[in-house]
Amino acid sequence: MNFPSDFIRFLTTAEQVVVLTGAGVSQESGLRTFRDAQTGLWAQYKPEDLASPEAFARAPKLVWDWYAWRREAIKGARPNPGHYALVEMENRIPNFTLITQNVDGLHRFAGSKNVLELHGNIQRVRCSECGMFTETWGDDTEAVPVCHECGGLLRPDVVWFGEALPRGELEAAVRAARACQVFFSIGTSGVVQPAASLAHAARNNGSVVVEINAEPTPLTPRVDYAFHGKSGELLPELVKAVWRN
Ligand code: APR
Repeated sequence: MNFPSDFIRFLTTAEQVVVLTGAGVSQESGLRTFRDAQTGLWAQYKPEDLASPEAFARAPKLVWDWYAWRREAIKGARPNPGHYALVEMENRIPNFTLITQNVDGLHRFAGSKNVLELHGNIQRVRCSECGMFTETWGDDTEAVPVCHECGGLLRPDVVWFGEALPRGELEAAVRAARACQVFFSIGTSGVVQPAASLAHAARNNGSVVVEINAEPTPLTPRVDYAFHGKSGELLPELVKAVWRN
């Protein structure tokens, strides 16, 4: 990709950069995205049938098993060159914030430090009643495991449709978006709120907004630069062009 020279020059001097990532960044690690037609996780289900408190109340075992299946899929996944390029960007830029909608933990696994997990982390499990976190639970495949403390059903520590995002992470994400010089939206369809509003908060603050995504999204018409392609290819090329030429 030939990145515009003014863009390269701007990035070399940028002090405050924010990156928002979505499932597209983990696609080249072999993990399905949500809305890619036919291959996405939602292709066979509707989100409200699996990722909502109502779904869990209605069919806790189906929801628990779906997340167990996703945890298994993530177990074999490794960060891809896109994750590692973001680690290098964090090391090169004085004030760098990585906000992710992904629950797979691959950014931290790759070495990113300042990560805000807006939608939680699928490897963490908590009690749906008392909120106690746990790393271990029974392996009875017939029933949803229960909390050692109160007997409540355990659930993945991810944000479901209709639930509030973790307050601290969201406030930090909004603060960072409002203060940055460059805001990247990478591998996300930009349709789920409030994450999708961060790019607009940055734009209203006068930030340069950049999209790196496999295909155009509703955000594309409102960004300063749109690079369409695979993040696992474009991000290493960008890091090379800016910091290793
Ligand atoms: N490189 C870059 N972009 C990619 C790649 C890739 N290799 N593969 C797919 N994409 C793009 C797709 O074109 C799509 O626009 O990544 C985007 C993924 O969009 P979604 O599947 O909607 O995932 P995401 O934006 O992360 O969803 C946001 O919605 O379902 C909820 O909580 C869930 O965090 C998720 C949120």
